[in-house]
Amino acid sequence: IKKKGQAGEIPVCLWCFKIDDEYKGGQNFMKILIVGGGGREHAIAWKLAQSPKVEKLYCAPGNAGIAEVAECVNIGVMEFDKLVEFAKEHEIDMTVVAPDDPLAAGAVDAFEAAGLRAFGPRANAAILEGSKAFSKDLMKKYNIPTAAYETFSDPEKAIAYLETAKMPIVLKADGLALGKGVLICRNLEEAKEGVKTLMLDKQFGSAGDEIVIEEFMTGREVSVLSFVDGKTIKIMTSAQDHKRAKDGDQGLNTGGMGTFSPSPFYTAEVDAFCKEKIYQPTVDAMRAEGREFKGIIFFGLMLTEDGPKVLEYNARFGDPETQVVLPRMKNDLVDLFDACIDGTLDQVDLEFEDNAAVCVVLASDGYPEHYEKGFPITGLERFQSSDGYYVFHAGSKFDSEGRVVTNGGRVLGVTATGATLKEARANAYQATEWVQFDNKYMRHDIGKAIDEA
Ligand code: AMP
Ligand code: GLY
Repeated sequence: IKKKGQAGEIPVCLWCFKIDDEYKGGQNFMKILIVGGGGREHAIAWKLAQSPKVEKLYCAPGNAGIAEVAECVNIGVMEFDKLVEFAKEHEIDMTVVAPDDPLAAGAVDAFEAAGLRAFGPRANAAILEGSKAFSKDLMKKYNIPTAAYETFSDPEKAIAYLETAKMPIVLKADGLALGKGVLICRNLEEAKEGVKTLMLDKQFGSAGDEIVIEEFMTGREVSVLSFVDGKTIKIMTSAQDHKRAKDGDQGLNTGGMGTFSPSPFYTAEVDAFCKEKIYQPTVDAMRAEGREFKGIIFFGLMLTEDGPKVLEYNARFGDPETQVVLPRMKNDLVDLFDACIDGTLDQVDLEFEDNAAVCVVLASDGYPEHYEKGFPITGLERFQSSDGYYVFHAGSKFDSEGRVVTNGGRVLGVTATGATLKEARANAYQATEWVQFDNKYMRHDIGKAIDEA
């Protein structure tokens, strides 16, 4: 039976007032749970909140910024039983699992086993990021361009190999290591030290039981995010991250200190090459291996003299790439998540604004090593996404007095759009001045590469 709803013509049952299950185009009928609590999840939550289909957003555990658009729930990202129980109790229509650890550990499998709808790869597909040895072997088997490599589980054999290898060389822990398990070694001495760090001292725990030793590549790095439904892949716009803590790419590796999108180095020619040799072949390879991939594949690419090559795969949205990609996306994110789950991505036209975005991370001084937290943050109210200014919270919380305070190494991702990359960068850096907190630290050269394009 159809009844005219106030927010448009929504078919509802006149007896129980439930929305007709077959009705997909209506207003405000979905409850979505986001798993995670950083800047990436804030960007996802902000984008989902724009959707007319969303009635209510929850985020576990969330943060003080996410709390503006979602109800934060105090459950950790690895507490699958509690998350599933929450989703059942609150009649969640879709759960979006954003971070790498729960994906690799089978969060999506846990939801599916309970008969619930979840967005993200199952554990058998999340291995694309979870094991570097797996991803390198996959690329070799299916002729996907990447750096030459060998894998080792015996430190002595690794050292024997290094003694004859060309330097510099790259050592990678096989497993997940918060993006820090990659060592670039300039000479044999550093490489031997690296084997010790990863395999003997176990700085990254069991992630270093096996290592990949890989040829060092040079060139521009580009990040490309994509939606995948198991067979079809749709590429989002390109972006570039700045991983080192200090200006001029000095200092330690971090989770990412800032991003810009699009990358001026990601030309139509590069795009065509990657579509033919990298993107679709990766999706097809996963299917052929019986590991159908549904979710986000993030391609870390190096544009070498011999053409684009894969540096790494991630099985999720990048952080802080998401903060510059989603503000430029025209589509309703709910439609994309639905299409990936249902295998109907081929019917979606993915569109981006013809503009640019820059994200500058405001961190706590001392990150990624030692830093203090708990300082009040001021100036957040000046950001209006309708004006193209966004402040995505990475590490914030409410203190006992209800003030927003710093709660992590990366605190905020100040993002601005503009007609051009230069304009977006000027806007983003201007907006970094609006926010204040003690020990505020940022890089001043995010997007400097734009000037070389
Ligand atoms: P990954 O976590 O694999 O992306 O590695 C982290 C960073 O290390 C990359 O963003 C690159 O800057 C660098 N890197 C990784 N592999 C290589 C390689 N084979 N050659 C040169 N740089 C690399
Ligand atoms: N920004 C890199 C990553 O998310 O791994």
